[in-house]
Amino acid sequence: MENRQVNLTRVYQLSAAHYLKSPFLSEEENKKTYGKCGQVAGHGHNYIIRVTVKGPIDAVTGMVTDVAELDKIVRKYVIDPLDHRNLNIELSHLSILTTEMFIQEIWKRLKPHITQVELYSVEVDETRKNGFQYFGAGH
Ligand code: NI
Repeated sequence: MENRQVNLTRVYQLSAAHYLKSPFLSEEENKKTYGKCGQVAGHGHNYIIRVTVKGPIDAVTGMVTDVAELDKIVRKYVIDPLDHRNLNIELSHLSILTTEMFIQEIWKRLKPHITQVELYSVEVDETRKNGFQYFGAGH
């Protein structure tokens, strides 16, 4: 039988606080660029995170991957350490706490642990109007 690949997406929620400040901009430029998102007191988001894996359908189980196993990995490396936290503190190694940077951090945390299937994409909805997708470096 041909090797048919199927994408499987799991959805998670993560609530966290952050504020935006670029070390490459002056106080004035930061204010202009980020407005109220730059207030040091911070603000919260209920991030919706979608993790998509891609792989062949297992002939025995008829599934792409063990969903419980995937959940365990996402919880251990992303949700548990970051849920209800301040991202500026937890991810202080990131120069700017935009979702563009955050989504890459999620990928980096998951990639080494998802070994049974291919990590295809990470998506993050920051608000109802802002959504981000990441397919790994080089895509
Ligand atoms: Ni924000």
